[in-house]
Amino acid sequence: MDVEERLADYAEMTEEALQRYLPEVECLQKSVADAARYSLSAGGKRIRPVLVMEFCRVCGGEPETALPVACAIEMMHTFSLIHDDLPCMDDDDMRRGKPSCHKAFGEAAAVLAGDALAILPFQIIAEAGLKKTLSQDAALRIIKLLSELSGISGMIGGQTVDLENEGKQPPVGVILEMYRMKTGALLEFCCKAGCIAAGAGADKQLSAGSYGQRLGLAFQIVDDILDITADEKLLGKPVGSDKADGKYTYVTAVGFEKAREQARSLTAQAAELLADFEDNEFLVGLTNMLLDRQY
Ligand code: IPE
Ligand code: IPE
Ligand code: MG
Ligand code: MG
Ligand code: MG
Repeated sequence: MDVEERLADYAEMTEEALQRYLPEVECLQKSVADAARYSLSAGGKRIRPVLVMEFCRVCGGEPETALPVACAIEMMHTFSLIHDDLPCMDDDDMRRGKPSCHKAFGEAAAVLAGDALAILPFQIIAEAGLKKTLSQDAALRIIKLLSELSGISGMIGGQTVDLENEGKQPPVGVILEMYRMKTGALLEFCCKAGCIAAGAGADKQLSAGSYGQRLGLAFQIVDDILDITADEKLLGKPVGSDKADGKYTYVTAVGFEKAREQARSLTAQAAELLADFEDNEFLVGLTNMLLDRQY
């Protein structure tokens, strides 16, 4: 099994489905859909949809069953990126290799496009439940999980703590808790939601959730490292943004070497948790690949 190949297959499934959810339609409010589509179709690694569909598969479900959830989380994630780039937040002009949403469409349009991408996910999951491509019980549980992990106790909570600590030096414990929320929560969602879509029980969801949290912490630490070391063209977003914003990251706190070691250790812990799933080679490969990613 080739990790790159399966990644590409999942990404293709995701691209096609995303286009269907946001078709180009002539209407009075076309501009908000255009701005949302611009950011959503700008590329990105599509890691979250892949995790949703693959966890569904390793729990015995069909990846297609989880496709609406995969699209939903990519929308929620894209919303977080559009708002993250706004002048009132990280003030970054490039994203996914293109001008950020607010640079291309203006600030108000970017706020509204982000809002739209935070709401559409719930419609999509509810529709899958009503059409019964996803069981209604699964749809309800996934909606609840998404609300929780993207809201105040999840991604939005983490973004809040991130912004409130600009120019400060929070303790390492606070930094890691912020990472758990701003990045770990959505990744935890992906893994758990994939299990739920397959109808898997609480034990699988628990292992998947713990995996997602560890992967999430490692993912953000690597993101912070890349903010210092990456090739900007490859990264598709500005290098040095954290320093310019006065962000005190895990890397600033413990140093480059220790941060890298911690990311490695979290990745190993995450990979170990995959032992609870059969046919897990792709997930193990993906987990290790994310540690060594260049963008
Ligand atoms: C960027 O996420 C934001 C973080 C949580 C670190 P990704 O690195 O997954 O961004 P895309 O989706 O590939 O653009
Ligand atoms: C991302 O943190 C967390 C989000 C919820 C968007 P960053 O601010 O480090 O993400 P990038 O580096 O801009 O993608
Ligand atoms: Mg940020
Ligand atoms: Mg940012
Ligand atoms: Mg970053």
